Amino acid sequence: MKTYLVTGAAGFIGANFIKYLLKRYDNIRIVVLDALTYAGNLGTIADDIDNDRCIFVRGDIGDRSLADELFARYKFDYVVNFAAESHVDRSIENPQLFLQTNILGTQNLLDAARRSWVTGHDETGYPLWRNGVRFHQVSTDEVYGSLGAEGYFTEHTPLCPHSPYSASKTSADLFVMAYRDTYHMPVSITRCSNNYGPYHFPEKLIPLIIKNILEGKSLPVYGDGSNVRDWLYVEDHCKAIDLVISQGRAGEVYNVGGHNEKTNLEIVRLTIATIHRLMESHPEYRKVLKKQVITPDGDIDISWINDSLITFVKDRLGHDQRYAIDPTKIHNELGWVPETTFEVGIVKTIEWYLNHQDWVEEVTSGEYQKYYDRMYGNR
Ligand SMILES: NC(=O)c1ccc[n+]([C@@H]2O[C@H](COP(=O)([O-])OP(=O)(O)OC[C@H]3O[C@@H](n4cnc5c(N)ncnc54)[C@H](O)[C@@H]3O)[C@@H](O)[C@H]2O)c1
Repeated sequence: MKTYLVTGAAGFIGANFIKYLLKRYDNIRIVVLDALTYAGNLGTIADDIDNDRCIFVRGDIGDRSLADELFARYKFDYVVNFAAESHVDRSIENPQLFLQTNILGTQNLLDAARRSWVTGHDETGYPLWRNGVRFHQVSTDEVYGSLGAEGYFTEHTPLCPHSPYSASKTSADLFVMAYRDTYHMPVSITRCSNNYGPYHFPEKLIPLIIKNILEGKSLPVYGDGSNVRDWLYVEDHCKAIDLVISQGRAGEVYNVGGHNEKTNLEIVRLTIATIHRLMESHPEYRKVLKKQVITPDGDIDISWINDSLITFVKDRLGHDQRYAIDPTKIHNELGWVPETTFEVGIVKTIEWYLNHQDWVEEVTSGEYQKYYDRMYGNR
């Protein structure tokens, strides 16, 4: 039986990851370590925590004594580090928090793993590691910086982060590689493009647009909306991480992306059109609208759900123009391919949000509302 320490699993991708593992494997145990920041919601994984196969511990990845205690108690085989401050806009507001969690927190986990997993030293002084252990760092394509109109990020693209968020993720990656080179620690890193899917906190583009449409609010788009991101359905990311941990070569970086580039404006327009189409074909979804306009025939009007909701707002500082991943390595070495096309994934995602408005209410607390008003004005 393998025991995983999965950090940050009350957040978007981590939650999807543990649900994926628990469904796929019978003989595993997962310990979730999560500080439950504004982005973490225990409700998301409440049904998964059974104190047997899945155990929840509330705590900070930067807490040394807690990390040591958990390693001693559970004898982890794998660490999968999702925990992070993950929102670029927030990193522009408060960079230091990103250094604390994303860099120091990761380094603290690396050290706890080292203290627990080293079994001795070879004749040249390098540590010997317990068989089968792996420290996996969940990283991002943002560490590579920004592309022009052409080309893709490969694993050999020089690291060139621009935002405080991506600088902190890059530093964490460099520490992971430093532990590989200095201590021969068995590590791996995946650098993935933008994810979308269920349980995505509604400060990020797609769930924010869905939430605003349902509330009849305007849809803020940075700059002229021409920034390009490469979108991947979250379950395909989870499959990639599982593959890399179990079959990927230790010490390696794998890029993960589905060749699905879209401008922010395209994403917003597509989300508007999909919600409109779903509400046309399934009128019961119209009941989810918080802005209810009744037509003379007594129907709930949806004619106002159109591109006129889009409002262009002042561009993000240092906004990277284009990200695009070359996933050839993970495809050739591990046979990974994205299984959910964007056309299917976006409908699945929007339907999930239409059916889980209780979840959205739960995670959007008063604190989040204050933050939203500060970022986008009270539109
Ligand atoms: N969302 C994306 O599109 C994307 C793409 C590529 C990589 N990533 C990376 O994947 C990881 C997860 O991203 P996400 O979108 O799920 O993030 P998220 O913000 O939804 O979740 C982060 C989780 O980490 C927890 N956390 C934050 N600080 C912590 C701390 N100090 N100690 C313990 N827990 C803490 C939060 O409570 C939350 O549950 C991040 O490392 C991010 O950099 C995200």
